[in-house]
Amino acid sequence: MEIIVKGMDPMAAHKLLTHKGLVDKIRDELRFFRSWIDSPLTMGAVSPSGPELAQRIASFVPVRPGGRYLELGPGTGVVTKAIFDRGVAQRDLTAIEYSPDFCHLLQQRYPGMITLQGDAYSLRSTLAPQVAAGETARFSAIVSGLPLFNKPKEQRRALILEALDLLEPGAPFIQFSYALVPPVKPEAGLFDLARTDWIWANLPPARVWVYRRPD
Ligand SMILES: C[S@@+](CC[C@H](N)C(=O)[O-])C[C@H]1O[C@@H](n2cnc3c(N)ncnc32)[C@H](O)[C@@H]1O
Repeated sequence: MEIIVKGMDPMAAHKLLTHKGLVDKIRDELRFFRSWIDSPLTMGAVSPSGPELAQRIASFVPVRPGGRYLELGPGTGVVTKAIFDRGVAQRDLTAIEYSPDFCHLLQQRYPGMITLQGDAYSLRSTLAPQVAAGETARFSAIVSGLPLFNKPKEQRRALILEALDLLEPGAPFIQFSYALVPPVKPEAGLFDLARTDWIWANLPPARVWVYRRPD
């Protein structure tokens, strides 16, 4: 693609790239929809998050030198891209995704990112290869696209607690959902919760929930 574009008239190159972006987007929508047909509970949505929601999620990621980041359920990588656009380097992001097809896609798209195929609800064992490779520092943020409401309340709570234990003090666990109520209610002394207003540009409209350990 780059060789063709280099030799081309800039306007034609721009049109071609715009066209390619659109084709990639439609392909991702189809991939996502097919996965939803195969496994609606695991997917929890019929299409990937829109750019407004992805950017809002990423806006809570505190980017700092030496920071390490974790994404759960990246799917086709819309939120992943927003995290990179915010300034996180690919090598600093680890992604845990259940679907082998999405893992393959993510590895092609973001070769510098560490993509682990596995279950985000078994966080520590899924992260074990990284720990074995010497990565033991805590994360500066965890971003989750998991469809939490498809799991029982206790399992959701256990995931949040386990994730908070893997974070630096005060660092955010960032989740989105389409529901009126939080995926897990805040618990005084254990974890606080902040939420955004509705992101109407997303279909369906969504909100971002940010969990943190109290100071
Ligand atoms: C609602 S989609 C979100 C995808 C993407 N983050 C987005 O916003 O477009 C949920 C994603 O979580 C993945 N997923 C569901 N359960 C999972 C689990 N237990 N472990 C890891 N990934 C999981 C699905 O395969 C899917 O890619």
